[in-house]
Amino acid sequence: MRSHRSVMVNEVLRYLITNEDGIYVDGTLGDGGHSLEILKNFDNVKIIGIDEDYDALNTASKKLSLFGNRITLVCGNFANLESLVREEVGIMYVNGVLLDIGLRQEVVDDPERGFSFLRDGPLDMRFDKRSQRTAYIVVNRYSQKRLAEIFKNYGDVKKSRHIAEAIVSARKRSPIATTGELAQIIKSLFPPSAVKKNLQKVFQAIRIEVNDELNALKSALEQSLEILEPGGRIVVISYHSGEDRIVKNFFATEAKDCICPPEIPVCRCGHRRTLKVITRKVVRPTDDEIAKNPSAKSARMRVAEKI
Ligand SMILES: C[S@@+](CC[C@H](N)C(=O)[O-])C[C@H]1O[C@@H](n2cnc3c(N)ncnc32)[C@H](O)[C@@H]1O
Repeated sequence: MRSHRSVMVNEVLRYLITNEDGIYVDGTLGDGGHSLEILKNFDNVKIIGIDEDYDALNTASKKLSLFGNRITLVCGNFANLESLVREEVGIMYVNGVLLDIGLRQEVVDDPERGFSFLRDGPLDMRFDKRSQRTAYIVVNRYSQKRLAEIFKNYGDVKKSRHIAEAIVSARKRSPIATTGELAQIIKSLFPPSAVKKNLQKVFQAIRIEVNDELNALKSALEQSLEILEPGGRIVVISYHSGEDRIVKNFFATEAKDCICPPEIPVCRCGHRRTLKVITRKVVRPTDDEIAKNPSAKSARMRVAEKI
C-alpha cells in the first residue's frame, strides 16, 4: 500500500504559521504529514489534530508520539470544529486552522474502504466508519432524480441522468453491492476513452454525498471564525471546484463590510468584515511537486486572515 504524500507542505508552513509560539488546528490530520512538518520546523508550536477516520488517527499517533504534549489528537468531524476544540480539548482560541480536504492514499488503496473503482470492494466510502450512510445506501436507496442531482452537482457529470437511470435499472435486478459492480455499470455507458474520467467523477460525487462533505466544509469555515485569534489564518487545500467555490465565496463574503444585494441603496445587513483574503489568486502546487506527486495536481490552496 502506498503511503500518503502531504501536499504543498512549504506553502502550508509559510501561510499558516503567524505566531511561532501558537496553537494550531490541523482539522484533517490524516497520517499527520503536515502536522509532522509543522512540529519539526517550529519548536514551540502546539497542534490539535482532528480526523474522523480512526485508522488515520492511529497512524498519526505513532508518527507524532515523539512530540509529547505538543500534539493533542481528537477523533471527530470538523463540522463540529468549535465544540471539539473548546469542549473536548478545552482551548478557547487558536492561531490558525488547516484543512486539507482530500483523500488519504491509504484509504484509496484499501479495497475494504470502498473508495476505489480500480479495486473491487464493498460500496462503503465512509471516512467515519461509525456513520450510518454508506455508498451502498446512496446507490441502492436514493431516487433516480436525487442520484442524477448528486452526479451533476458534486461531480460535474455530463450524462448524470443517463447514469442514474442505468443504476436504477440495474438495482431492480439485484442490489449493487461492490465498487466493481458499480464501475461495470458506468463503463458500459461510455466509449473506452471517456470511462476513467466518468468513473472518477461519479465516485467523487457519491463520496461527497456519503460524507456530507460540502456542508461539513461550510460549518468548519464558519466555526473557524469563532475560534481564531485576530491575525490567525485559515488555510484550505481543496481538490475539486465545488469545494474551492465554497472557500472562495466564504472568504469573499467575510472580507466585505456590507453583503446587501446591489439594488439596495443603503446598507441594511449590518455585516462587518471579519477576514482579510491573503491569497488573491488560488495557489497551486509547483510543476516540480506535481512531477514528484501526481496526486497533488488538482490541489488548490486559499488563505484568509482573521481581522
Ligand atoms: C488528504 S487527508 C489529510 C492528509 C494530511 N494533511 C497529511 O499531510 O498527512 C484528508 C483527511 O481528512 C479527513 N477528513 C475528511 N473529512 C473530514 C471531516 N469532515 N472531519 C474530520 N476529518 C475529515 C480524512 O479522514 C482524511 O484523513
